[in-house]
Amino acid sequence: MKGKFITLEGPDGSGKTTVSLKIVQLLQQQGYKVMLTREPGGVDIAEQIRNVILDKKNTAMDAKTEALLYAAARRQHLVEKVLPALQQGYIVICDRFVDSSLAYQGVGRQLGIDKVYAINLFAIEDIMPDKTIFFDIDYQLGLQRIRKNERVSDRMDEASQDFHKMVYDGYLQICQKYADRIVKIDASQDVDHVVEAAMKEIKKVLC
Ligand code: TYD
Repeated sequence: MKGKFITLEGPDGSGKTTVSLKIVQLLQQQGYKVMLTREPGGVDIAEQIRNVILDKKNTAMDAKTEALLYAAARRQHLVEKVLPALQQGYIVICDRFVDSSLAYQGVGRQLGIDKVYAINLFAIEDIMPDKTIFFDIDYQLGLQRIRKNERVSDRMDEASQDFHKMVYDGYLQICQKYADRIVKIDASQDVDHVVEAAMKEIKKVLC
């Protein structure tokens, strides 16, 4: 694969989306070919799956169905968008990838990290990111930010505090398990500092 695959992970309200836009702008100004995308979504059918999963009316969806839907959306997004861009030499910055499923469905919804990884094997085969940046922020601060920004909340945002705590703990476990791939940055700082920290990590992968 010619390009580089970089994923951004973190709890809800960790600032990935704001920071990713700035990172892409900076990399483009420096002459890199960059593509920004996100999960769940990024391509038409996956956006439709996203609407189903995150719809506040679907509170009764069981954890395994949820994990399978995320994996199906992931497969489509990977095949249609991410892999072609990597083959063309793009740096692909992806807001969430398989680690979100490991943290949210594996730990938050208690399916188990290994089980969720197994469910995802059909979706990702052996494709893992070259680098994953974990936006480390206390889950309560993240939720506070969502409320303050008055972002429209979705089904996941509205889950209980206990769920969000488990997701955060899940991320810490994943950071340990994949220590060679995942790097933590302090996402409680102001945006410019988070951008600077993320750029520093991305540059290490590019040279
Ligand atoms: P989104 O609005 O994109 O949240 P954010 O901007 O914080 O990334 O909603 C995505 C939600 O879906 C988020 O709460 C995390 C959740 N999610 C999973 O539970 N499993 C997954 O595999 C993925 C990709 C996301």
